[in-house]
Amino acid sequence: MEPLGLSIGWFPVINAILNIGSAIFLILAFIFIRQRRVQWHRISIILALGCSALFLTSYLFYHSIVGHVPYKGTGWIRILYYGILLSHTLLAIVVLPMIISTIRFALLSNFERHPKIGRITLAIWLYVSLTGVIVFGMLRPYAVEHFKKLQSSNTPIIKTINSTSTMIGTT
Ligand code: HEM
Repeated sequence: MEPLGLSIGWFPVINAILNIGSAIFLILAFIFIRQRRVQWHRISIILALGCSALFLTSYLFYHSIVGHVPYKGTGWIRILYYGILLSHTLLAIVVLPMIISTIRFALLSNFERHPKIGRITLAIWLYVSLTGVIVFGMLRPYAVEHFKKLQSSNTPIIKTINSTSTMIGTT
């Protein structure tokens, strides 16, 4: 693959792996707390948070370079794609203050309210992580097409990326 295609093309793959990571750590956090292993519950949540924070940083960086990647599917699959994308984006916004409240209740040792909000937070967070992977899979063919088109454009940012990735040997 050409320079831009390979270097930038890796970002969505890394993002999908980070989303899978968050989902795995959230499931582990739930299993651990059911077994009353509080310390492991806490560690799993911290790792899920790390994956989600890295994902957000990498996602914003990637889109600042490639811009909006249009979905080209038509018919019912298009409605499904945008339905998943819309619910994913809205719930990602909603879950952020919920994560903060859940952690706050845990830190204040409010173990009456923490599990109550925690169950909803965990379910929404898991949904957001998994739909992130689904969106990645559905958009992948059009994203590859998009990189190829970008590659032939000669904007300054694209020129810099191409020469940097050649220099550091990622091509
Ligand atoms: C956003 C982060 C977190 C989420 C989503 C979360 C989620 C949950 C859930 C769903 C439960 C209830 C499990 C059940 O149904 O039995 C729970 C319980 C618990 N969590 Fe968390 N948790 C988070 C952060 C933390 C942190 C940072 C701690 C710190 C030690 C913690 C400590 C506990 C404890 C001790 C319980 C048991 C409470 C009890 O049943 O008495 N959690 N958590």
